[in-house]
Amino acid sequence: MDRIRIVGGRPLNGRIPISGAKNAALPLMIASLLTDRTLTLENLPRLADVNQLMRILGNQGVDTSIDGKRKGEHEVAGQTAHLNARVIVDTTAPYELVSRMRASFWVLAPLLARMGEAKVSLPGGCAIGTRPVDFLLMAMEKLGASIDIDAGYVVAKAPKGLQGGEIDFPKVTVGGTHVALMAATLANGSTLITNAAREPEVVDLAECLSKMGARIKGAGTSEIEIEGVARLSGASHSVMPDRIETGTYAMAVAMTGGDVLLEGARGDLLQAALDDLVKTGAEVTQEEAGLRIRKNGGPIQPVDVTTQPYPGFPTDLQAQFMGLMTRADGVSRIRETIFENRFMHVQELARLGAHIHLEGDTAIVTGTQKLKGAPVMATDLRASVSLVIAALAAQGETVVSRVYHLDRGFEHLEKKLGACGAEVERLSAAE
Ligand code: EPZ
Repeated sequence: MDRIRIVGGRPLNGRIPISGAKNAALPLMIASLLTDRTLTLENLPRLADVNQLMRILGNQGVDTSIDGKRKGEHEVAGQTAHLNARVIVDTTAPYELVSRMRASFWVLAPLLARMGEAKVSLPGGCAIGTRPVDFLLMAMEKLGASIDIDAGYVVAKAPKGLQGGEIDFPKVTVGGTHVALMAATLANGSTLITNAAREPEVVDLAECLSKMGARIKGAGTSEIEIEGVARLSGASHSVMPDRIETGTYAMAVAMTGGDVLLEGARGDLLQAALDDLVKTGAEVTQEEAGLRIRKNGGPIQPVDVTTQPYPGFPTDLQAQFMGLMTRADGVSRIRETIFENRFMHVQELARLGAHIHLEGDTAIVTGTQKLKGAPVMATDLRASVSLVIAALAAQGETVVSRVYHLDRGFEHLEKKLGACGAEVERLSAAE
């Protein structure tokens, strides 16, 4: 298994191109199942999760082709993929595939909407919490599907097609909103989703579905109305920039000091996190080419944050912000309200010398100037990148193992940081 070696203590200066968003790309790819025409997705990131989802969709019968390199194209430029689900050959998504990536469970909705049936393995547990799918199943039932659980599989049926209905989510759920939206586009009649997730990735999916001919109003607010149509067509859509990758590199610069332009990044997609970053002492400016982050050599101010659904502080940036706070000039409190077990990075950050104490859903971080490199282990995607942020400021060498977690969601991490002056390299399994 690959590892990443980082020697801390260097500022970051230069440009980092921001990739297409993983969490927008995945539902967009799944939406290709809704039509027998080609869905072209531009700016698709090169990530392990994207490749894995292509394999899963391939099992359903989706043909995928990826454009080759174009003249003058940058190595990290997004890919263009064409997905075609002309014939769906299998409405089952097996355990071996779904258990590797939770988001693949979402294929339930388009399969049910288009084929009238779907059999999808329950995704099972995951490192950051129990993550049930009860709201997603409730949404399908509200649209008239019958749901049975059989030997670890969800068996959903709607032989006469889905019917429009009212779906009121008891708690904001991104995945629940994605599946409700996809299913309702092909349902008979109109659907109202209340307490819908307002995340920008939901808006990106709704925009793509609208280009495919769906009739959707209100995406980005907590009430979404969908008027079902008989069929959807193909479309071409560019995946939005990754707001979590943006926030991650912004926090890395706030940690090391320096001046970095995050090319193609949009500050409006992560305003709450940027407001907190400014309070720590970093400077954030939106420029035409992207978002510029500057930090002089001054101290990092401690700032308290609480994770919330959008537009609040995102849970997917909680670990990275904690990484930054390990070096703050004082005590900060970081409260996680979305997932019950998203603090696995705490023990690993402690190996680098961080002082963190857990009280229920809150981590109390006492900053120190004495972070020191150590061997650490990646536990999940965002947790692992928080270790990278801390390592960039730690004295000496850190080796992060189990790097496959990082490869799920960060494209060319070591190249992007290395180009800005960080001492970082990938050690391949043999080394
Ligand atoms: C999405 O997961 C993201 N994944 C997650 O990103 C992100 O952390 C999360 O939204 C919250 O923003 C993708 O977009 C692929 P939820 P999702 O349904 O949709 C509870 C990353 O690092 N819940 O919004 O699965 C759930 O347990 C990943 O990129 C139920 O109780 O999250 C959680 O407490 C990790 N029942 C809360 O709702 C349900 O049926 C929000 O979860 C569904 C959810």
